[in-house]
Amino acid sequence: MKVSAEILNLIPYKPGKPISETQREYGLTEVIKLASNENPLGPSPKAIAAIHKYLDHQHRYPDPSGYELVQKISEKWNVPATQVGLGNGSNEIIDLLIRIFCEPGDSILTSEAAFVAYQVCAQAARVRVRTTPLRHNDLTIDLKAIADHFFHNPTAKIKMIFIPNPNNPTGTLVGVQELDEFLIRLGNRDDVLLVFDEAYTEYVRDKKFNEAAKFYKNYSNVLVLKTFSKVYGMAGFRLGALLAPEYVLEYYNRVRNPFNVNDLAQVAGVAALEDKSYVEQSQKVVWEGLDYFYKELKRLNLHYYPSEANFVLFDTKRNSEHVHVNLLKKGLILRPVQNYGFKTLMRMTVGQMDENKKAIVAIEKMLTEVSEIG
Ligand SMILES: Cc1ncc(COP(=O)(O)O)c(C=O)c1O
Repeated sequence: MKVSAEILNLIPYKPGKPISETQREYGLTEVIKLASNENPLGPSPKAIAAIHKYLDHQHRYPDPSGYELVQKISEKWNVPATQVGLGNGSNEIIDLLIRIFCEPGDSILTSEAAFVAYQVCAQAARVRVRTTPLRHNDLTIDLKAIADHFFHNPTAKIKMIFIPNPNNPTGTLVGVQELDEFLIRLGNRDDVLLVFDEAYTEYVRDKKFNEAAKFYKNYSNVLVLKTFSKVYGMAGFRLGALLAPEYVLEYYNRVRNPFNVNDLAQVAGVAALEDKSYVEQSQKVVWEGLDYFYKELKRLNLHYYPSEANFVLFDTKRNSEHVHVNLLKKGLILRPVQNYGFKTLMRMTVGQMDENKKAIVAIEKMLTEVSEIG
């Protein structure tokens, strides 16, 4: 059976190596995983307590509309409930949006080294992926280049533009003035959707940050993705949210599986949104951890890119795949990012402080064991 060239060439998303697999492969008991931008605190205790009450309810299908959770999300982000959609992680929302709004042969547009899921989902839907260069000095996304690319390629059938803000794996934000100009040029068009992926906004410390969840209502073609996998500590539950104009939600709810978000995720999501002190604690852990990493990476003379998310990208000056294996043997899982075109860079998620300290000890030792690229 033949499949399309896009499927043949599809490089599947490679998640961080699981702890259990690393323990088995390297015969280790203690393994620290700082590879998947997860929340190291575990889920909110309120979320855990809430799901316990619902365990004996699991012979029933979940509420297909996610009513309670949609209400909570609409309160939290101050948007009408009619503009809120739910997904099995924001990854599912990305996948469905591309399938809804692009036909095979259409294109999506994003930046080089933008979160890789856009590419994987597009290819799976036989949709082309176009990218513009990243700014190489600070690894920021060049929004002007993206808008220019859109206008210079009218025959490319670009239906969607994906902007991760902050971006993964770089941790960078788009410039505020640049964003204004981008929206002036592309906002309110009816031939292209602008999707702002805001998985990490709760960690942003830059006071100038302009959150799409706050401005999307001014535009007919701006969509926002939120996730419960990061600051809400629910990566395993799989829960994401879409904030978008009603007509987008109308299509989205037609296409999604009616039970895409399970009951426990819905209940946990409501509880997590109510647990403000857990969110504050999660932010504190990340901000203190990032500052610690900056100090230590500086001491080790390793260049890093300041991050507005819960991870930091740093230059090992070595082949990062070799570094990865060396660190695995020491029980530390980080994320090499060669798939994004960075041969020597490594992404490290902030963990609990004792994990961060052990990570730095392992990295310092690795520096004496893996040789630098000449
Ligand atoms: C920028 C970005 N968007 C979306 C996601 C996917 O999150 P989810 O777990 O909600 O599918 C991630 C996960 O790492 C991410 O980094």
